[in-house]
Amino acid sequence: MHTETHTGLDAPRGIWWKPAHKAERLWVGIAFGWCLVLFAMMPLWHFKGGQNPTGIRRRTDPKAYYARTMEFIRQYKVGEDRGMPIVAPPPGSDVYLMAFTFQWQPILKLQQGAQYTLHLSSLDMNHGFELFPVNANFQVVSGYDYGLRVSPTAAGDFRIICNEFCGIGHHTMVGRVIVVDSTGREIASSGGVQ
Ligand code: CUA
Repeated sequence: MHTETHTGLDAPRGIWWKPAHKAERLWVGIAFGWCLVLFAMMPLWHFKGGQNPTGIRRRTDPKAYYARTMEFIRQYKVGEDRGMPIVAPPPGSDVYLMAFTFQWQPILKLQQGAQYTLHLSSLDMNHGFELFPVNANFQVVSGYDYGLRVSPTAAGDFRIICNEFCGIGHHTMVGRVIVVDSTGREIASSGGVQ
């Protein structure tokens, strides 16, 4: 007696399918149309959305970036907070911030309304730059110097949070940016964060 073997890897024999129902065809059509809309939105939003930074990107070496940041700290250091240098660069200057496990260095003191080029890079692994409570997020990647043109719009004492998991001390990786208003006055806030 011949027994036929038919595994799940073979297609079922004969005409096993029914033509798609009208409603199914309609939904596939709608879904496909929506895919095309979303696809078109990606390039469109890059130019129209105003949400992509138009900064500069260049390759760098972590050692060189470290040296450049240390030079920047030496040049404009105005104080210290528990051993962490506070640096107040003049308006229009290039500002260097380095990320490494598990710190952001240095503390930046910027002026409201002034323009800066904020350079971000990591000395070891990926970190995430998030300026709290402002909705600004940037990947901080080792080997790349990411220069953002920034102009602080509000005075206050802000925190930089690492939002890219980077290891055991990730949750302690908090930096600080102080923005002084046009009179040069620092706005003190009760909780340290505004
Ligand atoms: Cu650095 Cu998480």
